[in-house]
Formats: sequence, structure tokens, C-alpha cells
Amino acid sequence: MPVPLIIDCDPGHDDAIALMLAAADPAVDLLAVTTVAGNQTVEKTTLNARRVFTVAGITGVPLAAGCARPLVQPLTVADDVHGASGLDGPRFPAPAVDVVPEHAVELMHRVLTGHPEPVTLVPTGPLTNVALLLTRYPDVAAHIREIVFMGGSTERGNRTPAAEFNVHVDPEAADIVLTSGVPVTMCGLNVTHQALATPAVLARLEALDTELARTCVELLTYFASTYRRLWGFPAPPVHDPVAVARVIDPATVRCVDAHVAVELCGRYTRGATVVDLHRYTGRPVNAQVAVGLDADRFWDRVIAAVDALGRRAT
Ligand code: BDR
Ligand code: CA
Repeated sequence: MPVPLIIDCDPGHDDAIALMLAAADPAVDLLAVTTVAGNQTVEKTTLNARRVFTVAGITGVPLAAGCARPLVQPLTVADDVHGASGLDGPRFPAPAVDVVPEHAVELMHRVLTGHPEPVTLVPTGPLTNVALLLTRYPDVAAHIREIVFMGGSTERGNRTPAAEFNVHVDPEAADIVLTSGVPVTMCGLNVTHQALATPAVLARLEALDTELARTCVELLTYFASTYRRLWGFPAPPVHDPVAVARVIDPATVRCVDAHVAVELCGRYTRGATVVDLHRYTGRPVNAQVAVGLDADRFWDRVIAAVDALGRRAT
């Protein structure tokens, strides 16, 4: 049986690929998609989700807009990485898909409590919506199978020397999720930096020869240009689908148990994920932490998803 799943995202180039993987892979059943402010304002990330639904032919999946700002601090966006639109690169047609007239938190709550079995949440942006869901509706925890999020790192950050972007944008939200008692898996930069859209990956996408595959190549080519300019990466790390891949095919992403704390006060380190991989602190395990990626297996799955959606759309 496919794993029922909700994606909470801030598209974003890599969020777009995560949505396609979740929409097409037969191992999961995408029940709903929600958006949050992060890579861009929530107006822009929601428009981008509608664009992705439209070009990928994703229908019958409710989409709702969520929080416009983090719980405590002002929003910082990643326009240097994702451009002014949040999804720079391709030209998109006018979106043919609209949002439902419901806040993201309410949609998540309704879908979770209405589903006959526990549902997996995959946040690929700041954790604001998910933290609000857990605090507004504490009983919802019983309806969540696990939260598999892209964010944090066992090593260094990408927004500050210490902090990864999704956690950096809303550290209080990440702290609420990690202390909630709900099973959590963290897919951080230490593994997503292995999910590189190399020239060989782009060539495989191009060879699919569909409109959607060409759009993906344009997205990833833009993403490559910013990663090259900002960090000198030879190819861009496609972070967010790694969390989806962990749900689809757990062997793709190797995890270990650890305690993860979010630094909320550090003078230089606010937003850092402090991962006790070697059990120094004696603090109880509160997460599975991704430590390894089978990149070939990952890309096979992503490319198959883009292929399936691209053929369906043409
Ligand atoms: C994360 O930050 C965003 O820019 C990406 O979409 C990804 O979710 C990587 O740090
Ligand atoms: Ca994201």
C-alpha cells in the first residue's frame, strides 16, 4: 500500500522536484500540499506551487497557503539562490490550478484527522506551519506517522556558518517539531549535498524529451548557476526530494538515531542543529538523522517520476 503523505513546501527549485517525485511515485499517495514563507514570500511560494502543479499535470491534490512569517523573527528569503520569483529560470504558463479557501494548518488538520491511517508529513521549507499545527491541535500527533523534514545538518550550515536555511528561517518552529514527541527524521545538508544534479543527470532528463523534463532542466540549470556563483559548487544539490525519497524507498537514505537540539540563543550559532551522533550528552534519541545517500538510486527514482508525469501531460 502506498504511504499517505502531505508535503509542506516553499517552492523553490528543489521543492518543485520534490513535488513531482511525490506526485508520481507509486510508493506514496500525495494527499495534500501546503505552502509556507521561506525561499520567497508565501504569496510567491504558493504561486510557484500552482505553477508546478500546472506544468506537471498534478490534479486532485488540495493545495493551501500557510504562514506568511516565522513564529518569532522576521522572514528572510533566499532570493539569491532561487531568484526574485522563487522559481527563476523557466517561463511558466498561467497557473491552471488554484488553492483551496483554507489555511494550510486547517487543511493539514482536516486531512490528517480524516484519514483512516496515520499520515507522513514531509516539510521541505521552514517548519512554521507544522509547528503551528502541533501547538494548535496537540491531539493531531496521533494521526502523524512521522515527520520527515529537509533541514539542518550534522555539519556546517548554508545560511550562516552554523545554520541551514530552513531551520535558520524559523528556529523556534524547528525546536517545537523536534521536541514534540512525534517521530522525526532529519534530512540535512550532510546528505542533500550528495544529491547533485550533475551534467549526467541533466543529460538523462533531457533525453526524456518531454516539455516537463525540459522545464526541469531549465530549473536545475538556473539552480546550478546560483550554486556555482554563491558557493562554487560544480553542480547544484537538489535537497528537498531527498526527504521524499526517504519515505518512498527508505534504503536510499541511511539514517542513525540521535538527539537533535536546535540552538535558539547562540550569539553566532542561532538556528544550528546540534546533533549528538556519538551520544556524548546522554540526552534521549528524538530523531533519525540521515547520514548517507545512495545517489544513483535517488536519481533513478526522480527521473522516473519526471518521465511518468511528462508522458501523462503530453
Ligand atoms: C533548503 O533551503 C531552501 O533554499 C531549499 O529549498 C531547501 O529546502 C536547503 O537549505
Ligand atoms: Ca525548500
